Amino acid sequence: MKIVACNSNRPLAEAVAAALNLPLTKASVRRFADMEIFVEIHENVRGEDVFVIQSTSYPANDNLMELLITLDALRRGSARRITAVIPYFGYARQDRKSGPRTPISAKLVANLITEAGANRVLTMDLHAGQIQGFFDIPVDNLYAAPLFSRDVQERFANREPMIVSPDVGGVLRARIMARRLNCDLAIIDKRREKAGVSEVMNIIGEVEGRDCILIDDIVDSGGTLCNAAEALLKNGARSASVYVTHGVLSGGAVARIAGSPIEMLTITDSIAATEAVRLAHNVRQHSIAPLLAEAMRRISDESSVSSLFD
Ligand code: R5P
Repeated sequence: MKIVACNSNRPLAEAVAAALNLPLTKASVRRFADMEIFVEIHENVRGEDVFVIQSTSYPANDNLMELLITLDALRRGSARRITAVIPYFGYARQDRKSGPRTPISAKLVANLITEAGANRVLTMDLHAGQIQGFFDIPVDNLYAAPLFSRDVQERFANREPMIVSPDVGGVLRARIMARRLNCDLAIIDKRREKAGVSEVMNIIGEVEGRDCILIDDIVDSGGTLCNAAEALLKNGARSASVYVTHGVLSGGAVARIAGSPIEMLTITDSIAATEAVRLAHNVRQHSIAPLLAEAMRRISDESSVSSLFD
């Protein structure tokens, strides 16, 4: 078993390698003057079971290209099996035609990864589970829910939390968490009755006096969650905390969250923390390295990955 780390999230790759007690395979990724990417694997990989760790996070196109070129280098180096470990799968939100003459970029990215040489994919909390079907190779989709529910149990031991979905699209995700924790569930229904009229946030569920926990898969601009937290407090909630798997946190998102009534935003390290994330008073990261490492060990041993979540 060999682990190759691309550059999007070195700290996570190093933590995974440490958990597996393996060194990272020596490899270098260089840029030519025109910024073309060049990858060189400095160790023999012939016949090896190779795992390439790369999140296709910001800058998404560079990181995706780095992954594709690394897969190509490994395939041409005669690796026996190549698993693309993609903790955060970018382009996942473009998973259907949103209008006439628009792309399904998630499918295109799946094709590119397969064509470049991946034999399997290991990822986490895909934006839509159906994206697994965009690949014709095996995909293992891990969940942060068990990790988050343990954390909620510790942090909210003496409180009466209520799980909240920030939009109708996230109800299934939130319901799974509510069931794990045996908690009540509320849903925020955002509606714009007429074009040009501001959005109305209707809350389905009685949140007054409750410690609300918003659940989502991605926080990008932070708009969805900051608005949801404000709506909850306006409706009498005692507090609003957030658990999100992928901290995309583009532009001024961290500042927006720091200035919001969100008590604490907990994200995983599927995307490397920026300086702003490290310094924010109400953002913390939970490592998925032990979970990824265990899943990789099981893939390598040909044992069950799904039983990790039993
Ligand atoms: C949407 O379907 C996702 O689950 C997230 O709710 C969304 O990507 C969050 O985006 P933002 O943080 O920009 O509101």
